[in-house]
Amino acid sequence: MNILILSGSPRKGGNTDLLVEAFVKGASQKHHVEVVSVHDYKVSPCKGCNACFKSKDYACVQKDDMAVIYEKMSQADMLVIASPVYFYGISAQLKTIIDRLHNPIRNSFPVKKMALMLVGAATLPELFDSIQTEYTLCLNFFQLEDAGRVLVCGVKDKGDIKNTDALNPNRSLEKLSNFLLEKSSTNGTNVSSENRFHQ
Ligand SMILES: Cc1cc2nc3c(=O)[nH]c(=O)nc-3n(C[C@H](O)[C@H](O)[C@H](O)COP(=O)(O)O)c2cc1C
Repeated sequence: MNILILSGSPRKGGNTDLLVEAFVKGASQKHHVEVVSVHDYKVSPCKGCNACFKSKDYACVQKDDMAVIYEKMSQADMLVIASPVYFYGISAQLKTIIDRLHNPIRNSFPVKKMALMLVGAATLPELFDSIQTEYTLCLNFFQLEDAGRVLVCGVKDKGDIKNTDALNPNRSLEKLSNFLLEKSSTNGTNVSSENRFHQ
């Protein structure tokens, strides 16, 4: 399986990057894994002009690094959304990339599964609620299978995640690793194998 990770922290080497690194280590034993990190790509926000819907080749009027990301998505069977919590949402940089999927080019992507990985400083029980609501709505909208969720609270400063179980593939990453290592997994919602990344 080709797995594309959209990694949303602008802070290099922070908790999101460490979580993504641990995930890549496990998943790449059986799969081709690629990371697109927001600190390496310059993507402008969607203008909502809908020109891409009218253009023959779905071209966006904005010429930026999103073209490279579309190309990577056109090879991906699974997406992993990884982000720090920023005021109860994902980072603006990652949201910018996701908003650029308001383009019919997405209908050609072979993506069938999605997973969610989040880190946040607070420990309040509702910390990930709003992001998970958006994530669930997007799974339904795009008719994708949920490949699992890793939610790590109480991590604020760079490296704090090392003091948790989250980087241990036998603990927090277990749900996703089991799935990806093709062991038995009870995680996720079953959907038809016909599902595609479509409108
Ligand atoms: C702009 C901004 C907003 C944040 N908002 C929240 C928040 O709403 N709740 C929270 O628990 N942590 C919040 N944090 C803390 C980060 O989620 C936390 O430090 C996280 O570990 C950062 O991940 P990183 O090391 O991958 O950048 C915020 C941090 C920043 C920079």
